[in-house]
Amino acid sequence: MSSPETLPQQPDYSYEAFAQRDFYIALNERLLKYSPEIHSLVDFATGTGAVIDHLRSHGKLKEPFTAIGVDIDEEGLERARRKFTNLNTLESGSNYVNFINYSVAETPITSSSQELVTYLHAIHLMPDPLATLVEAERILEPRGTILVITGYTKDFAYPPRTEARRQWGLLAKIARDSLKSRAEEIEYVLKQKGEDEKANDLFARGRDPFQNTASDYLDLLAQAGFQYSVPDNHITNMDRDDMRAICSYREFAQGRFPNIPLEYSIPALVEAVDPAFERMETDYFQRGWYLYRAKKKAA
Ligand SMILES: C[S@@+](CC[C@H](N)C(=O)[O-])C[C@H]1O[C@@H](n2cnc3c(N)ncnc32)[C@H](O)[C@@H]1O
Repeated sequence: MSSPETLPQQPDYSYEAFAQRDFYIALNERLLKYSPEIHSLVDFATGTGAVIDHLRSHGKLKEPFTAIGVDIDEEGLERARRKFTNLNTLESGSNYVNFINYSVAETPITSSSQELVTYLHAIHLMPDPLATLVEAERILEPRGTILVITGYTKDFAYPPRTEARRQWGLLAKIARDSLKSRAEEIEYVLKQKGEDEKANDLFARGRDPFQNTASDYLDLLAQAGFQYSVPDNHITNMDRDDMRAICSYREFAQGRFPNIPLEYSIPALVEAVDPAFERMETDYFQRGWYLYRAKKKAA
């Protein structure tokens, strides 16, 4: 019998590796520096809790504080809970960090109870982004702050006058061609699992995350009742390791190839990175991000 040390490791398809990349930390820093110093925080779509960690280590959480991370991915929540094991008991006057499995469209958090909602790299995933902003507005105190960032605006994700659209398009094409060369094998695996519908439409596209422009998100913030919305944008340079990290993330691969099992789509994407960089003759892939800060109206 194998000892625990020799058991095969489950591949890590979580967001953790990408969340640790230097360019990504610096990008989030650009947004999170606008956080006021606060005692109460809700992190929407918290993933593995990186935002709460960041705000705490940058002194934005003033004692005693409560921080709640909300997500629908239990595996990510479990990793997040392990980072804050010493802070998960509610004692009067002490700090408290909790991670709850809820959709950000509807949380159990008391109305008008929070000073800050952070909402990083997730609003574009939501079928109804307005409903999630309405929920953020509901739980914030009057004059409470929301901070949002997305790399999926229709008009700036691939910034004009850059090679970004061609770079990301080529990466996806190389991965798709490699998957096509194994299509029979993948169809067989899916059919063995009884997933015939997926097998019959191997290269179906998922929901389009590029549905809103940068100014659409400003409109949604206003519709949800926020004011003083300030947009900012930034273009990042992502190197090969940054790209390999995002290609290893479950939701990224599922977004590109929703019907293909991760054990095929992730290696195909990761292996596409080197040839894509070589064919584009570049050291960096570019990406455009929009950042927003806004306030709930006074009571
Ligand atoms: C790209 S990750 C971002 C994680 C984190 N905000 C960060 O920046 O480190 C997107 C997260 O959105 C979560 N998510 C997707 N739909 C959600 C929903 N309806 N409610 C809550 N979380 C959701 C996913 O589970 C995932 O953890």
